[in-house]
Parts: sequence; structure tokens; C-alpha cells
Amino acid sequence: MKYSDKVMDHFMHPRNVGEIEDASATGTVGNAKCGDIMKVYLKIENDVIVDAKFKTFGCGSAIATSSMATEMIIGKSIDDALNLTNKAVAEALDGLPPVKMHCSLLAEQAVKAALKEFYEENGGIPEDKKKYFEVLDEDEHAHDAE
Ligand code: FES
Repeated sequence: MKYSDKVMDHFMHPRNVGEIEDASATGTVGNAKCGDIMKVYLKIENDVIVDAKFKTFGCGSAIATSSMATEMIIGKSIDDALNLTNKAVAEALDGLPPVKMHCSLLAEQAVKAALKEFYEENGGIPEDKKKYFEVLDEDEHAHDAE
């Protein structure tokens, strides 16, 4: 299987690995197909993600996409982070092999799971934001590139 240089770089040298002890919210998701698990920690101040870290027990593509996803959301507002899609993360990595696209969904879902927890602990999910969390009910098949 051919991986881009960026995928290899983020797999070999993942950014933002670890935990945030006083995280504002965390999100844990699993891939039913392969059993891989990802946990994302977010530190949110004034609706801006000031820090993000992750732990991924999964394949190289899952690690590379978590690394890139955290890089992409640090410094962004919650609204901008909600717009992050697995496709955008994969594109930022110069693409993933089609058979590995489902791995990138874990990163999107983990970020959204953490944001969902953040909303739930801070007054609930606004009505106009609920659509962003539908991805949490999707399995990997919906995002397969086939
Ligand atoms: Fe499980 Fe990639 S094979 S996330």
C-alpha cells in the first residue's frame, strides 16, 4: 500500500500525543470493524480550542489522521472545528489509500464526540449544531471511498 510522505511523517512523528489533565472535554470513539480506539482531549477557552491531544490505539492511518486533525483544530473556534471532516484531514495528508479512508473517520468522530461533551456540559447542544453530530452514529461504511 502506498502512503504519502505526509502520512508517513505524521505516523512516525505524531504531533500532540498525550493527555490534557484539565481538559475541558474528551471524546472516545471506536471503530467497530477493526477494534481501533481513539481518545481526544480538548482544552477550550472562550469557545476557542487552545490545546488538543490524542491517544490512538490503532493503525498508522488512524495515528496520522489524529495527529493532523489535532494540528488543524488547535487555535480554531468550536464552530470551525465542527466543520472539520475526515475528507479534509485526509486531503491535508495528501490523501489516504481508499481502503484506509474509514480510519480517518475516527479522528473526525473523536473531535466531535469531545465537542458534544463540551456542549452537553455547558448548557446543551444548540439546535443548529445537532447536524454536526450525526457523524457519530455513522459507521465506517458510510465514508468508504468505494
Ligand atoms: Fe482501524 Fe485503521 S484499521 S482505524
